[in-house]
Amino acid sequence: MIMHRIVVHTKDKRSRINRNIYGNFSEHLGRCIYNGVYVGEDSDIPNINGMRTDVVEALRYIRLPVLRWPGGCFADEYHWKDGIGPKASRKKMVNTHWGGVVEDNSFGTHEFLELCRQIGCAPYINGNLGSGTVQEMSEWMEYMTFDGISPMASLRAQNGHPAPWRVQYFGVGNENWGCGGNMRPSYYADLYRRYQTYVRNYGENRVFRIACGPNADDYNWTETVMQIAGAYMDGLSLHYYTVPGDWNQKGSATEFDEETYYRTLKRASYMEELVTKHAQIMDRYDPAHKVGLVVDEWGTWYDVEPGTNPGFLYQQNTMRDAMVAALTLNIFNAHSDRVVMANIAQLANVLQSVILTEGKKMVRTPTYYVFDLFKQHQDAVLLGTFAETTEIGVQAEKLPNLSVSASEDASGNVHITVANLSATEACATEISLIGRVFQTASGRVLAGKMDDYNDFDTPEAVSIRPLTDVLLENGVVRCTLPACSVAEITVC
Ligand code: AHR
Repeated sequence: MIMHRIVVHTKDKRSRINRNIYGNFSEHLGRCIYNGVYVGEDSDIPNINGMRTDVVEALRYIRLPVLRWPGGCFADEYHWKDGIGPKASRKKMVNTHWGGVVEDNSFGTHEFLELCRQIGCAPYINGNLGSGTVQEMSEWMEYMTFDGISPMASLRAQNGHPAPWRVQYFGVGNENWGCGGNMRPSYYADLYRRYQTYVRNYGENRVFRIACGPNADDYNWTETVMQIAGAYMDGLSLHYYTVPGDWNQKGSATEFDEETYYRTLKRASYMEELVTKHAQIMDRYDPAHKVGLVVDEWGTWYDVEPGTNPGFLYQQNTMRDAMVAALTLNIFNAHSDRVVMANIAQLANVLQSVILTEGKKMVRTPTYYVFDLFKQHQDAVLLGTFAETTEIGVQAEKLPNLSVSASEDASGNVHITVANLSATEACATEISLIGRVFQTASGRVLAGKMDDYNDFDTPEAVSIRPLTDVLLENGVVRCTLPACSVAEITVC
């Protein structure tokens, strides 16, 4: 077994890791909202006000900080007034984007904000710029947040919620370079300036306005939108999905060989370059870092599970996905001076989900457990780290075997998250803690074969267990990281 050294510099305190990096995304797509989180008040699946109690409890446990809704591509076709008022009279429509199914609008603004209340997370609403009007967007914010006498505030009261909600995060359009209107960046940037003007701050509510950012490496989009509209935004989004094949044949979620495993991780690690280069452009227009990078869609995208509706994007989730999540979250931590929010796609039953459901059954995926292992980084201070690594992989798909980040929480405890990306080799690790003396060390680990997953009949095939051989001696923590594993080591 090879030995690797990691150094954590406890005096090298860097940016605060915004808790919102651990956010999620829920779209009216497939079984994400309906069945995934919302089953309706009359369901025999245990629920509070229609929200599945098992799912809410699981999300509270990982301290989900922020949830984006209603899309995605759905957002630029969504007219929020269709989703308020008595459910029986809500408009039924076709979800043209996702499977052509009937959308009965039984989950709307009130339901989403109730879901966020139950989870204890901040709502992030994505407005419709592609096919909606300025007035519609403006009135949505008035409806949700205005505390006084106004047409939208009285409509809200009439619909059973006299008190305003707090809605801090608001997206002005989604993927407007694609499904959100096929716009060119300068056209979008002008529209953004116009629409955001009417997304008002009411009372105490202060809106963090998020502009539609680039698709992956479209640096021209970032350049143009920052130049024209950078002064009018608080956040700029970035979307990047990890696809092991090509868009026509993305590959199976569960059946893959080692080469595909490493290719997937290599493609996921491209996030490092994307964030670095987009941040460099942002630095030129916003040297003071007033505008945050919001990676509000990321994760793996495979072929749908055989036999499921292709428009529903339902895929299983293996240890490979856990490794992608760990690698990506460590990248976001490292760039937390610019990355202020990220939302993995998606919450339940769609793409790289943390939760899968089938009727009454619920499964926590390997990706869920990574969010559990990383939760202590939320709002902690990033510490400088260095890791000795070995190149692993096959043929062209090579990458370093370890991915690491470390942070200090408000009580002074240090949390180190390490992924051993090797599919086959365990790694003996020495973590040198420079600058402070610690008394205790402990660890938790998620490990398995690269294609292990949790299913409805074996919901705990992969889950977190204690890392038993952790030893702290003379400022050095020694432990063995199993092959294909993600660990959290805590020193106090
Ligand atoms: O997450 C699925 C889809 O991917 C979203 O609706 C869209 O924004 C992106 O293309």
